[in-house]
Amino acid sequence: MLLSLTPGGALVLDHWGADGGSARGEDYLPRRPSNWPWDRAFLDGVPLAYPVYGDPTFKEPCLCLVYEDGTRVARLAFREDRIVKLKGRPTLELLFVDSVHDLVLAHRFAVYAEHDLIGRAARLQNDGERPMRIERALSAGLGLPPGQYEAWTLHGQLGREYQLERRPLRPGKFITESRRGFTSHEANPWFAVSPTGETNEQHGPVWFGALAWSGSWTIVFEVERNEALSIVAGVQPFDFAWHLGPGETLETPALVCGYSEEGLGGASRVLHGYLAAEVLPERHRSTLRPVLYNSWEATGFDVHVEEQIALARRAAALGVELFVVDDGWFGARDSDQAGLADWVVNPRKFPRGLGELTDEVHCLDMQFGIWLEPEMVSPDSDLYRAHPDWIFHFPDREPTFVRDQLVLNFAREDVRANILAQLQRLLREQRIDFLKWDHNRPLTEVGWPAAPRERQREVWVRHVHGVYEVIAQLRVEFPDLLIETCAAGGGRADLGILALTDQVWLSDNTDAADRLLIQYGYSHVYAPRTMVNWVTDVPNLQTGRESPLEFRFHVAMQGVLGIGGNVLRWTAEECDRARELVTEYKRLRPIIQQGRQYWLLPPASNGPCAVQYVTNDRRQTVVLLYQLLAMGGRGRGRVRLRGLDPTRRYRRAADGAESTGAAMMAIGLPIVFLQSTGLPHDGDWGSKAELWQAVDG
Ligand code: DGJ
Repeated sequence: MLLSLTPGGALVLDHWGADGGSARGEDYLPRRPSNWPWDRAFLDGVPLAYPVYGDPTFKEPCLCLVYEDGTRVARLAFREDRIVKLKGRPTLELLFVDSVHDLVLAHRFAVYAEHDLIGRAARLQNDGERPMRIERALSAGLGLPPGQYEAWTLHGQLGREYQLERRPLRPGKFITESRRGFTSHEANPWFAVSPTGETNEQHGPVWFGALAWSGSWTIVFEVERNEALSIVAGVQPFDFAWHLGPGETLETPALVCGYSEEGLGGASRVLHGYLAAEVLPERHRSTLRPVLYNSWEATGFDVHVEEQIALARRAAALGVELFVVDDGWFGARDSDQAGLADWVVNPRKFPRGLGELTDEVHCLDMQFGIWLEPEMVSPDSDLYRAHPDWIFHFPDREPTFVRDQLVLNFAREDVRANILAQLQRLLREQRIDFLKWDHNRPLTEVGWPAAPRERQREVWVRHVHGVYEVIAQLRVEFPDLLIETCAAGGGRADLGILALTDQVWLSDNTDAADRLLIQYGYSHVYAPRTMVNWVTDVPNLQTGRESPLEFRFHVAMQGVLGIGGNVLRWTAEECDRARELVTEYKRLRPIIQQGRQYWLLPPASNGPCAVQYVTNDRRQTVVLLYQLLAMGGRGRGRVRLRGLDPTRRYRRAADGAESTGAAMMAIGLPIVFLQSTGLPHDGDWGSKAELWQAVDG
């Protein structure tokens, strides 16, 4: 990144991305000033690192505020630069000051040299004696010179999360955002930008960024009048305001940004490496995630100890390592109409206590996990009856019910204390190794009437901080807990929540074909070790589609394998095959969960589709191949591998076939699916996992 100051003192991000290997600041030839006098008066089209309302520009700002005297323009002058250590990271801090009102703005650039990433954030400090009102405080601005660009973003809805979208950026704005109070299914806080037509999965320049924030957020792409691209990103300014009293500070979440010349795949591998080494909670960062069983699709709310024990026994026999009881085990939870926020074991469903199940699960040599939805409350619950004012609301306005539940305001200290105490009690009393932390509705009527009027709109941010605080406290007291983030499927995956949780449930859509697209999009940002996928029953509950057991397993193997069907109804033959496939997955798991991921063929058409994982030492690779629907006459193709050592010989574990890294990357593997008869098969639903290992010597 190359930074400078305009003559007027605004911070410019002259360049980010390739440095040619040796470029230094003094080698940078400055932009030519415009020959139009009007242009020279304004900073539009100039790549500002943090446009401020008050700078001479009309572009989308990062900062808007109101001083107590009503002044709405900030004039920030550079004061000093310094290198500080923040969270153990060398961080460049550039301090700017509005001396009339004693506002100090620190721009932070945390350097992750080994990942080739920069973490951008801003910190506002009121050094004066009067309060000020911050109306927007984004994390960072990024600019690219005039040109033609396209953006890649993730969109969808419940059951169709993480669809990778590509669109040209034309003059004007494109905004991707959440206003729902959480990360959302509709969009994910990540972007990639590339010069139009130059970039694909494997090749080409790509600039990318991801926000570490689990509340409402915005990313604005603005093609300016000279076709320069300005991108600003951060906490959603809609309905937000922050009262910054004397001596107070406000810190934005980080926008992590980088550049790759290896296309979208290269960008994803950088983010995966960063997530694994810097973001995920340290305790489980490099441990292999267990194969899990989840009861949701099998038993829904109808949880009873006998059936759960039977499921656990069957799951253990299949090779499962973690047994999770989903929704329905607590309070008066017989349906989605009651019980949320009463985190006590339901005595009718567990007459001899939860210990009967947890003991059995541990005896079966599995870990035990449980579902929670701590930010939510059912009106039909003891907690709501005692504290109806703890939800988001405005007086005299009916709240919107979604799934018959309301949202607790975690900005409130008493709410956090109550929920934390309930969870602590549960975790102290029961032998629980894993939490699935769910969040099944967006925030509406986001009112906090008990707060001072000038602080009420801080709630969007304080609530998220409150959620982070409760999870962080649990992690301190129960450091071995493994935590899965979930929000009605994949509504909450981001670099913020992933600093506190270990893995993600990314969609309630468990149909293997749909899932390929969902996993494809998700894995462009988040590492396979965080991506939980279940094998469920057919016909699929969401789509009614039938696909073979083997195909379902091979799709679910892409990240953290889980089983979510009613295994008590599986035939003996299915169970035998499932056991073999779980064993196969365990063998491949270190390579899939901890290797480098390459999408070789996207799941865009009928097929074939392929994804590959390579260990860091390039000695082992796994290729997962799928053929959704066959097309008569297409014949069998090849798929070229990536990331291998060209000089090595590799051997296929299944049959001992050998080839070199060079040949497999240049010519590729023939795509052949075998039927159970052992004959080549070009039909629908072909799938397989191939393991190749370097031949020593
Ligand atoms: C939504 C989740 O995505 C499901 O997996 C399940 O946990 C349900 N909530 C339970 O209510």
